[in-house]
Amino acid sequence: MLTGKRVLLIIGGGIAAFKSLDLIRRLRERGNTVVPVLTAAAEKFVTPLSVSALAAERVHRDLFDLTGEVEMGHIELSRSADLIAVAPCTADLMAKMAGGHADDLASTLLMATDKPVLIAPSMNVRMWLHPATQRNLTTLRSERILVVGPEEGEMACGEFGPGRMSETTDIINAMVPALGDGPLRGRHVLVTSGPTIESIDPVRYITNRSSGAQGAAIAEALVSLGARVTFVTGPSSVPQPIGVEAVRVESAAQMLDAVEAALPADAAVFAAAVADWRSAKESSRKIKKDGSGGPPKFELMENPDILATIALKRDGRPELVVGFAAETDDVIAQAVAKRERKGCDWILANDVSPETGIVGGSENAVTLISSDGVEEWPRMGKTQVAARLANRIAETLA
Ligand code: CTP
Repeated sequence: MLTGKRVLLIIGGGIAAFKSLDLIRRLRERGNTVVPVLTAAAEKFVTPLSVSALAAERVHRDLFDLTGEVEMGHIELSRSADLIAVAPCTADLMAKMAGGHADDLASTLLMATDKPVLIAPSMNVRMWLHPATQRNLTTLRSERILVVGPEEGEMACGEFGPGRMSETTDIINAMVPALGDGPLRGRHVLVTSGPTIESIDPVRYITNRSSGAQGAAIAEALVSLGARVTFVTGPSSVPQPIGVEAVRVESAAQMLDAVEAALPADAAVFAAAVADWRSAKESSRKIKKDGSGGPPKFELMENPDILATIALKRDGRPELVVGFAAETDDVIAQAVAKRERKGCDWILANDVSPETGIVGGSENAVTLISSDGVEEWPRMGKTQVAARLANRIAETLA
């Protein structure tokens, strides 16, 4: 899918630099232009000559290259690309990026660009797990830098763990969403995900067993088709999907506010397991046992139905509204009724009985219910469910 693009490839000084030669070849095979930049350290691993020969382009190496500045300033170099990829991205390059340094050509280009940036980190496992690198990673992610890898495996240094640069095809695949290409390009899709938590008092809350895995997979699948995705998520332990605009919330009320604020959207997928009830009066003090051995005295009230609120809107309703129906009994009949009641276009019904292992598991078995009828999908991984749903959304919006 990635073709006709101009990729500025910054090669950092790591043993994985040799894999960047393959990355150059594969990008060019697909009809892309690769403009290579070598850091001083990278030149210890690959030669400018081999990089230039494979790229069929001049290699940029020096910030104060007068010829370069006459022909094309470094600012323009950083902007003329569709995307900047840093592969391998060393711990030092990550630190420079996170710290905003600009003391050589690579770091200056990264500071000067207004284009998407994707990094493929590669380093020794201890360096990757070092708190400084992890801190830099968090900073870079928060700045919407896309990160692919590193993969786990045996490393050149003989140690085992995360640190290997991702494979060429994975890096290229990660570039597609970075460039916003695909059938959902120009479309905005809203996804809710994860559980919500509802405070009872300063130390207690009500929540549920949702992991947020299905919602995250859906968001990522939509991004990979080129959509701009607003991902409104309750507290979840699964990693934040790459390339989304994430809004983190806790309660159902906050989730509804975030959803309203994210509109307009072309489509909305409500995958969150919203807590149905919250405490009618959240106590600012810890509720104490009264010594009677009886149940605590607090009342619950129903939360707003976020899906129904959006699906039943007269103005500003997304063109396509998709809900889930998590059921344990009479799955299809309940889901059909739920679709009617909540006013959504599609509902994905799933059986969440404990024996299915779906809640908190990696697989899902869904049935798509729409005005066209009932369509049972085979049991598959949550990523596959997400891809299938994202494709259906793309077809429908087209
Ligand atoms: N949902 C929502 N807001 C709520 C409750 C549910 O947006 N307050 C959405 C969910 O994200 C899901 C759909 O509604 O897409 C159905 O959720 P589910 O838990 O199956 O249904 P409930 O409305 O909670 O109905 P019940 O618990 O009675 O089955």
